[in-house]
Amino acid sequence: MSVNHTLFTVGPVEVRKEVLEAMTKPMITHRSKAFEQLQEGIVEKLHKALDTDMNILMSPASASGLLEGCVRSGVNRSMVGVSNGSFGDRWQGIGTENGKEVRKVNAPWGKAVRPSDLEGAIDDRTEAVTMVSNESSTGVLNPVADIVKGIREKHDPLIFVDGVTAVFGTDLRIKELDLDALVFGTQKALALPPGLAIMCCSDRLLEKAKTVPHRGYYFDLVQMKKMADKNYSLTTPPVSLMYALDFQLERMLKEGMSARYERHKEMAELVRNWARAHHGLFAEPGHLSDTITVINRGDIDFSKLNKGLKERGCEISNGYGDIKETTFRVGHMGDLTPAEVRGLLKNMDEVLEATR
Ligand SMILES: Cc1ncc(COP(=O)(O)O)c(C=O)c1O
Repeated sequence: MSVNHTLFTVGPVEVRKEVLEAMTKPMITHRSKAFEQLQEGIVEKLHKALDTDMNILMSPASASGLLEGCVRSGVNRSMVGVSNGSFGDRWQGIGTENGKEVRKVNAPWGKAVRPSDLEGAIDDRTEAVTMVSNESSTGVLNPVADIVKGIREKHDPLIFVDGVTAVFGTDLRIKELDLDALVFGTQKALALPPGLAIMCCSDRLLEKAKTVPHRGYYFDLVQMKKMADKNYSLTTPPVSLMYALDFQLERMLKEGMSARYERHKEMAELVRNWARAHHGLFAEPGHLSDTITVINRGDIDFSKLNKGLKERGCEISNGYGDIKETTFRVGHMGDLTPAEVRGLLKNMDEVLEATR
């Protein structure tokens, strides 16, 4: 693969050379003053960049680890799982596989979840509701703020949000959301290698967790919080990745978060326009993702298209889940620029022309 190969994928995504280089600093042990300082700096920058004062918990895992941690630590028996795609389904599955009773609220793929979809689903037994912010299989950005507001009007369950492909690419206005968990990982809009799961966690979830038996060990939020208070990790953390995270957060704060979110919108609009000129978008208008565009394939041969793109030094992603064969996905998140996206789209046109 060429050194100039650029990923327009849905994760892992393109990681800049200088960010990768930040991982090559000398190793330190994770029970040292130097590590405490590293973690303290990261938490401070995460609070600043995301404009939240929620507890930050980190785990050496992919994001799914903490999705499971929320269920294991926050639910004794009963939860509601909201889904309009593969990743909503997956969180329902995590609940079921952990022995919880999961009431499913399923909205059609390609459509956003509406607050009204949850009517009648939540009752006094419901301990938590899980949902996905940016559904990566369909390219829908769900209106989480409206859904949360709708829930809180009548009920008071814990609310857990999968922010895996939203956080750092879309301004979720976390402070205004009244969430109990927002989970994400390093390999998406943070534009880092995979390996660290991160969550914003409410005090309320931590209090509830103390009453839930059999939370397991690795993703036990109560133990993670105890260690986080000392700027330690529960188990051995990916120190090199944390160097890169610290460096990346510094870069983001320098760019400015609103500039970052605007850049994502600009890139998304470029890709949407390309899709509109071809076979169209899978997701409904008004609820389009800023980080991933899911494009209807029509008569496009995706294998040929991506093969041609790879020969030109770039790469996009296949469709996912039930719509794997009828769509493909372009990731436009992290540190990519509108100029790079324009370059990709030009290459896509040229490859399609050449393979027609
Ligand atoms: C919306 C969403 N949720 C969850 C996941 C799973 O994340 P991970 O592979 O980091 O466990 C993904 C991965 O693509 C995702 O896009």
